[in-house]
Amino acid sequence: MDELIKALKISFASEFSFYLKAQYFHWNVEGENFQQYHELFGKIYEEVYGSIDDFAENIRKAGSYTPGSFERFSMLSKIDDETEIPDARSMTEILLEDSDKMANIFKLVFDIAERNGEHGLADFLAGRQDAHRKHSWMLRATLK
Ligand SMILES: [Fe+2]
Repeated sequence: MDELIKALKISFASEFSFYLKAQYFHWNVEGENFQQYHELFGKIYEEVYGSIDDFAENIRKAGSYTPGSFERFSMLSKIDDETEIPDARSMTEILLEDSDKMANIFKLVFDIAERNGEHGLADFLAGRQDAHRKHSWMLRATLK
């Protein structure tokens, strides 16, 4: 169970960091196709943000406290913080790489949840993996 809680906290902090980066790009993207990128990043951050509360409550259901500070998030997160303003294409490439990373993290945490017989939680994690597959598809299609 300790392994599961640790994996949940790492994936939660990573998901929050991913959400923040997508919104940061939504706010700061510029260029010829501004509207298209602004909306794409907007759609992504809104979907991910919509999962955050359930995610935190799943950590509580698993019997642990949930992290909720930038200090803890930066200690736990596998998603690199962004402080620069990349161009629109680079933003898309960065988010694609991060979204693929998130899908892979959820794949691993799903396996741990299943091993612990936590099927409801595994179902939630499967949904997050699938959501990131969709985000990755849209980002990849945009780069073609
Ligand atoms: Fe907005």
